[in-house]
This record gives sequence, structure tokens and C-alpha cells, in this order.
Amino acid sequence: MKISAEEHHIIQDILDLNTKGSTHMLDAVMHNPVSNYADPEKLNQEINSLFRNFPIIIAHSSDLAETGDFMTHDATGMPIIVARTNDGTLKAFLNVCRHRGARLTDEPCGKARTFSCPYHAWTYGLDGKLRGIPQAFGFDTEDKAKLGLVEVPVFERFGMVWVVPSVQDQDMDIDAWLAPMEEQLNGLDLAGHTVFQKWSLDRNMSWRLALEGFQESYHFCSAHRDTACSGYLDNQSVHLNFDPHVRHAVPLPKVLELRDQDPSDWDYRSNFMTQNYLFPANFIQVMTDHVYVHTIIPTGPGTCVFQCMMLIPEAPKTEKAERYWQKNFDLIRVVFNEDFVIGEGIQKGLDTGVNQHFVFGKYEVGLQLGQKSIDDAIAGKLKVPTR
Ligand code: FES
Ligand SMILES: [Fe+2]
Repeated sequence: MKISAEEHHIIQDILDLNTKGSTHMLDAVMHNPVSNYADPEKLNQEINSLFRNFPIIIAHSSDLAETGDFMTHDATGMPIIVARTNDGTLKAFLNVCRHRGARLTDEPCGKARTFSCPYHAWTYGLDGKLRGIPQAFGFDTEDKAKLGLVEVPVFERFGMVWVVPSVQDQDMDIDAWLAPMEEQLNGLDLAGHTVFQKWSLDRNMSWRLALEGFQESYHFCSAHRDTACSGYLDNQSVHLNFDPHVRHAVPLPKVLELRDQDPSDWDYRSNFMTQNYLFPANFIQVMTDHVYVHTIIPTGPGTCVFQCMMLIPEAPKTEKAERYWQKNFDLIRVVFNEDFVIGEGIQKGLDTGVNQHFVFGKYEVGLQLGQKSIDDAIAGKLKVPTR
């Protein structure tokens, strides 16, 4: 199988680092103030910057496959409806009636021809336009064209549905935003994948602690001693910094066998787990034969929701295939839970004041890069390009 120049470079780096008995490192240790995990004001800044200006993944395209399919999403604090319109494109709106603000629907998902408000039955099309007002003579001076649902940006890329949870004047260029990850993610054909399982977990930990579980592999052989540890080289990984996105390649032990192979025969996918961080809160975690997509969203100081889907190349056709994927799903739930239990423990200790800062080691590269990007976004230095 042909691999990209980027993947060739990752493999070569891993082999070189392994020969030297080292791993990918930055120049310095970083001290990260504990207030970044515990201060409600800091959290407000993060929500108002990261979760209002950048795209987050909320679904797989197949969740909204047909005209009229819709879903709601509230976790970011912005009530959103996404619907597949008659022309096949997606539209996203605030789930807020333009008459007096009622929620149009409380259903998590469904199929609709229109959205009719439960309060006074104003009716909107799938495109968000106001279609009908009962006893409209009471509103005859109002311009119906200006009373459509308020749109928020929505995109479909790499088989995923992305929204920016705020009303925007600008036309965001999501292709430019995701360009550094495009070659790799397009090659996976995630749009052609099937959602095997989806789950959503509310956890009592800062969203940042949940995020950090996916940004380094230093913890694998302690936190995941009986699960993930043996599956990967211990604390030996490569981070490609596409500021603010990061491709974190974690090798399987058998990657070392590639030393004896002609580089033109090297395969990447079968030798790596790749944790792709797509700023600010999305991970596309590529396993050797399936993919996890997760989004971590703060729901308050010290709480977050972890929304995850497991994608497989095709729907299982046999019981054996079903069992195989179920086993993978059961294992990953255990592994993620090992991270979350530790994260919730950290959260409980934050207020003790024992630590003024956490120490990010030189090889905890993803943590250092992630904090820098978050700081840049809050400072207004990082933006999604516009067209
Ligand atoms: S609030 Fe929706 S129709 Fe009145
Ligand atoms: Fe972990």
C-alpha cells in the first residue's frame, strides 16, 4: 500500500528515535497554571472563544442522511437544530422561535417536513424560512422574510457534521482551516464508514483534563497497564504540529519490523494509532481497522460531556463480525474510563491548592502545543480563515 510522504517521515522518525532510545521532545518543560482547569472565569473565556468561534463535530453525515432528517445539540450551551434540506445540503439554526423564543423541538433527532413551534404554531421550513403564522393578521406589519430561524455555520467534511455554535457574519473557510489534515483524513473515507456505536458521557472533570488524556502516550503503561500498554511502544510517539491541529502518531511494537523492509513496501495504518487533534475539542482517533471520533465539551466548572462515535468500514454482515467490533467497543470503553477515573480524581484535588501549576514534560508534546493554541485563541491570535 502506498503511503504519503508525511507517513513515511513519521515511520522514519520512530525508527530513528527507537534506535537512539529516545522519543519526540520539545526544548523545555512547561508549567501550566492550575487555574487553567479550575477558574470559572477562565472557563468562560474558553467557552466564549473556543466554543463560539471554531467548528466542533456533532454527528456523522449518515445520521442526517435524508431530506428532513434533523438533530438537536445543546451541550455547548447554544441550542442548535441541524436539518437536511430539500436540496440535500445541511442547515443549522438556533432552536429558538422568532416569535417569542420557544424551543421548536426537544427531540434529540427525528424526521420532519417543517418545524412547527409548540407555543403558537409558527411554522418554519427545513431551510429555516418562516412559512406560516396562524391568524397572521395580528402580525401584518412584520416582514416575514426577516423572521426566519437564525442560522449558525454548519459544514460536512470527512464524513462528519461540524457546527460553529454561534451566529457569525463571516463566511468561514473550513477547507483552509482543515487543510493540514486533509490528505490523511480524506484518505480514510470516513463518509463511507458505518457508525457502530455512539455514546455520550457526562463526567465530573474539567473538559481540559479529558482532552489531555488524548494528547500524550506517556501514561499508557501506567494508567492502562492491563489494557492499552502492551499494544504500543512505551512513550514513543511523533507529534506533527499543524498549529493548532496536531497529528499524534503512536506506534504499535511491530513497527520496528519495518527496519528490515524496503521503505517502498512500508504500510502506515497497520502500524500506528493516530490521535488527530482538530482544534479546539475534536479528536479523530484512527485505529488500524476502525476509527473513533470524539468531541469534549465543557458543561460547567469541573464538568464536561464526552461525545464519541465508533466508525467501522462497513456494517457487520456476520455474527462473528458483530462480536469482533463489539469486543473493540467494550475494550475502548474500559480504556477511556481508566482515563476519566484519573481525571475525576485530579479534579477533586485541584481545590486543595497543593499544585500551583502542573508540569508538562518535554515529551508531553501535545499538552504543551494544546495549551499554547488555547492561549492563542483566547488572545484573539487564532481564527478560522474567512473566504
Ligand atoms: S413562541 Fe413560537 S410561535 Fe410563539
Ligand atoms: Fe488514556
